[in-house]
Amino acid sequence: MTNKILVIGSANTDMVVKTHRFPEAGETIIGGDFFMFAGGKGANQAVAAARLGADVTFVCKIGNDIFGKNAIEGYQKEGINTDYILVDTSKPSGVALILINAEGQNEIVVASGANASLSEENIEMIIEQFQYTEIIVIQLETPIATVAKIATTARKKGKKLIINPAPAQVLPLSIYEDLFLITPNETETEILTNIKVIDENSALLAARKLQSWGVQNVIITMGAQGAFVLANNCEGIIPTPKVEAIDTTAAGDVFNGAIAVALAKGLSWREACHFACKASAISVTRMGAQASAPYLRELSI
Ligand code: RIB
Repeated sequence: MTNKILVIGSANTDMVVKTHRFPEAGETIIGGDFFMFAGGKGANQAVAAARLGADVTFVCKIGNDIFGKNAIEGYQKEGINTDYILVDTSKPSGVALILINAEGQNEIVVASGANASLSEENIEMIIEQFQYTEIIVIQLETPIATVAKIATTARKKGKKLIINPAPAQVLPLSIYEDLFLITPNETETEILTNIKVIDENSALLAARKLQSWGVQNVIITMGAQGAFVLANNCEGIIPTPKVEAIDTTAAGDVFNGAIAVALAKGLSWREACHFACKASAISVTRMGAQASAPYLRELSI
């Protein structure tokens, strides 16, 4: 096992406003503090993995603007290899508008910008990078054709592909057999399988459906309940530490970065889920996406 992880995905700048409640359609409300954070599901997962000790290469597409430049500087400070980050001079960098309510829940709208032009051809150009890693992590904030290209390439090269299907969308069935692991949350699971996940039984049903389409292993993240895992020699809910959430943004991203690190280290499924649940629980006690990702020293393992 190596600690090298290739993350391919989105990079955004998050514009965050705290609010006591979300506004209704057509309503203006006065909120609380404003924050600007580095975000984007791909970048968040890359940073989470790097802080937990992995040697991360991150591939994304940014615009030729200050947001993109700041983003790259941030990844470099985290020790992430940014050599394969691409620039689209015709599009702005991705931006996300985020509201956080009093319970720490969020509502997010993403303006994809350059993320939307990460193409299949771009993946061709970085294919040689696939040989240096055993684990590749992707999400769904880049075009689905690009995701499909990564999936077939990863399979051909015998790599373990982890897909975090967020934001949720129905995937072409052909993608599933290329996947080593899929990590939807409850909402995403329902969109993919039409099964509402409310407890362990419904999670098992949905996970079995995903496996019947060809994915090898399934983890359904279930917020404060923990994570349901259906994998080799491991089935059931792994509980998450109880914490007071102030901002749940990127909790799933931190979970995915952490699970990739744990699997790369050769931890068992149970140990890996414990590790990822712990990392994710720490992240919700802090504001921001990348800003909330914990360092290895904070997880007593
Ligand atoms: O998962 C949280 C992320 O979703 C935010 O950082 C935002 O940029 C969106 O991509």
